[in-house]
Amino acid sequence: MTTELIHPVHSLSGPLELPGDKSISHRYAMLAALASGVSELRNFAAARDCHSTLGCVKALGADVKVDGTTIKITGHGLHGLKSSWRALDAENSGTTIRLLSGILSGQDFSTKISGDASLQKRPMKRVVAPLRQMGAEIRAKDDNFPPLEIRGGKLHAIHYEMPMASAQVKSAVLLAGLYADGITQVTEPAKTRDHTELALEEFGAHIEKRGRTVSIHGLAARNGQAALQPKSLDVPGDLSSAVFFIAAASLFPESSLYIANVGLNPTRSAILDFFQQMGASVTVLNLQSKQGELIGDLSVKGAPLKGGLVSGDLVPLLIDELPMLAALGPYTQEGIEFRDAQELRVKESDRIAALAENLKRMGAKVEERPDGLRVEGRGAGPLHGAEIDPRGDHRIAMAFAVAGLAAKGETKILDAGCAGVSYPSFFKELRRLAAP
Ligand code: S3P
Repeated sequence: MTTELIHPVHSLSGPLELPGDKSISHRYAMLAALASGVSELRNFAAARDCHSTLGCVKALGADVKVDGTTIKITGHGLHGLKSSWRALDAENSGTTIRLLSGILSGQDFSTKISGDASLQKRPMKRVVAPLRQMGAEIRAKDDNFPPLEIRGGKLHAIHYEMPMASAQVKSAVLLAGLYADGITQVTEPAKTRDHTELALEEFGAHIEKRGRTVSIHGLAARNGQAALQPKSLDVPGDLSSAVFFIAAASLFPESSLYIANVGLNPTRSAILDFFQQMGASVTVLNLQSKQGELIGDLSVKGAPLKGGLVSGDLVPLLIDELPMLAALGPYTQEGIEFRDAQELRVKESDRIAALAENLKRMGAKVEERPDGLRVEGRGAGPLHGAEIDPRGDHRIAMAFAVAGLAAKGETKILDAGCAGVSYPSFFKELRRLAAP
């Protein structure tokens, strides 16, 4: 287990290039594996999670060649996957197991898929229920947890009203919809990231969007024909990884950071509006659209932060950024509060508990609630360095590394290697940009 020591710094400055977006990389890899021919994916995520997806599609018969961050995947068509003799291993990746469940539901063979100890505690009923409605036979531990055993088959289209706002659930149903007879529809209670819809369109699927409902035309009828086309695609930089550096730079008046080529899809970029509302100095430059995704550069300077409340429909739009926002709370004027965020308890760790415990270790004043927390702002006193237990959760490790930059004394991040789940070079980049 690697430990990282974080010391107070004076500012963060310089240019930064991010690893490819994790959510987009998963989707491009899966769709490339279902296309007929060779796809080339450049700036593919370095994230361990996305390499878990590559391992799974390889085990299902796609050819995968990795050359740094350029990945070549040869798919053999929508019906070209083969059963894997061993169980698929999604490791720590919820996106891998939930999205692949949709694809596996359309195959005429059985697959077992599981993951690490953290993944085995994460709820799967949310994807199992709609996929069963479509005709898949799925067995799960206690009817909810991995391992999943999925016997695919002929699927029929459904109109699924999602009980929760989850991009992973929406995506699982849409991917199964590729294999269903007719038009599958998903209605979400609040907007979530739409990378699956955009990627499906890019690879040639027929998608329609109306308000919060997405429809996909099943391609099963086109048996044998090239239903999805291979593509040559660039993955934009991961905004959720950028957020740790935006937060770090904001803490110090003399910071000046330039982050190039960041994915700014509107279903992900609410975090930039939130930072700006808090008073952060973040400017978007060179905005352009590529492959359906918005991309731009970010210039970040230090500025005092006001704090704020995240609740309701904003929660799913900021879901992965909440750990960083909470850890910034003690450095803000008014503190940070989350409501309606019970989903945080079933992420890679119970993030509400992990945030509350580690913030308290650093001297913050925190009130933990079933659906969120309240972190007092600057008035509650300064933070001091402490030993941080990220509970194996990449975003907790990175959030507290940032909090440690402005605390008094040394902060020790235990098991810091877990950051590699989304951002393997995070600590190296932090050291490079920090001026002591
Ligand atoms: C993701 C969706 C979100 C997010 C996760 C990635 C995706 O999960 O938290 O990190 O790529 O679809 P939910 O769909 O469970 O909210």
